[in-house]
Amino acid sequence: MSKVLLGSRTRLAFVAALALVLVVPAAASARTKAPAGSAASCELSVFSWWTGGGEAAGLTKLIGIWNKSNPTCQFKNETVAGGAGSNAKAVLAQRLSANKPPDSFQGHAGKELQDYIKAGQVEPIDFIYKQYGLSKIMPKQLISQITYKGHLYSVPVNIHRANVLWFNPAVLKKAGITSVPTTWAQFIAALDKAKAAGVIPLALGEQWTQKHLFETVLISTLGQSGWDKLWTKGGNWNSAGVKTAVDRFNTLLTKYTNSDAGSLTWQDAGKLVADGKAAFNVMGDWQDGYFSGTTAGGNLALKPGKDYGWAAVPGSVGVYDWLSDSFTLPKGAPHRAAAIKWLGFLGSEKAQDTFNPVKGSIPARQDAKTSLYGPYLKWALTQWKTDKLAGSLTHGVVANNAWNASIDTALGLFIQNHDAAAFQKALVAAHGKNAS
Ligand code: GAL
Repeated sequence: MSKVLLGSRTRLAFVAALALVLVVPAAASARTKAPAGSAASCELSVFSWWTGGGEAAGLTKLIGIWNKSNPTCQFKNETVAGGAGSNAKAVLAQRLSANKPPDSFQGHAGKELQDYIKAGQVEPIDFIYKQYGLSKIMPKQLISQITYKGHLYSVPVNIHRANVLWFNPAVLKKAGITSVPTTWAQFIAALDKAKAAGVIPLALGEQWTQKHLFETVLISTLGQSGWDKLWTKGGNWNSAGVKTAVDRFNTLLTKYTNSDAGSLTWQDAGKLVADGKAAFNVMGDWQDGYFSGTTAGGNLALKPGKDYGWAAVPGSVGVYDWLSDSFTLPKGAPHRAAAIKWLGFLGSEKAQDTFNPVKGSIPARQDAKTSLYGPYLKWALTQWKTDKLAGSLTHGVVANNAWNASIDTALGLFIQNHDAAAFQKALVAAHGKNAS
């Protein structure tokens, strides 16, 4: 029954989002009209899911620079709300199959991008890399995730970290948690103390944030190399390690999280920590943009290090669970020349060092002006250089959209029935069906 309800609600959200983009794009747009007499037909339509928190604030900065330097080709902001692209990806798939692509769209580096490449929906952009000298400036590991059969397919604007434990220092103090947990045992002990102090131990949001949490628990439990193996043909999802991770995840869900998780966005869950109603939350570092950004941009204007703190998710110290937002050149882009210019701009130091300090991500370029970044991002910049890298599941690096969808279905059931054995079995089946 609840499964049916969930299905229809998801469909409703999808239809509403689709209508927003296909029928009344102007309503969802932050478009500025081109000056009278200019080539009004040139509009740069860019598709993303950056509608709130530091996401929207960062995008607004980029739009500002773009519109100033391109008065005859203004930005048309085609966003579809829903963290992690939970609605946007379905809308995008519809548009691409209906041959109605935007001029550029957000796609995660890695397997998610490969879906679009293999479907022939995006153009190779080696010439943009050549023109703007981007190959030398981006990290090699990232370049390999946007290259397919020797060709480059997107411009990464940032690198995010997914395995971050955010906390409220005042709440920890009140609960008698004297140090930030680094091991699983310490984490459980801290969650117990928070529970005894009458706060939500671990704030949680809607389903994709639960997958995000599960991903970090798997990495903490299996380590980086164990995690990497899961995504290969020989990966063993039936292992004792995966069982431990599923059990740990179940413990978090059933003992330490808020009961209304399913109806909260990632910002809602983060705000529980910010407001002192919860001790911890696991979320990607876009949370730093939301916590520290200005209230004018809809953010919380908290003081990093004082009002909120951060650490690696316990058990994953020294591992950077990473992802990257990259932008593409769709085949049949209505304003191809403007889209090429946009991609060159996104790769520039100016765009990356303007966008990322607000978005809560480190730049993809390796020549960032670190002085422009806040305390959390300075920490992340250092960690990126020394940590082992683990690609994100929830944000498209290690598994494509189909594998993600199989895991989503299994997780949707698990959240309702908490049948750990059935969940693991479904994960094994998802691997069998999708690993290549
Ligand atoms: C991720 C995306 C981030 C951030 C986050 C929450 O998938 O890469 O840029 O937007 O979702 O919406």
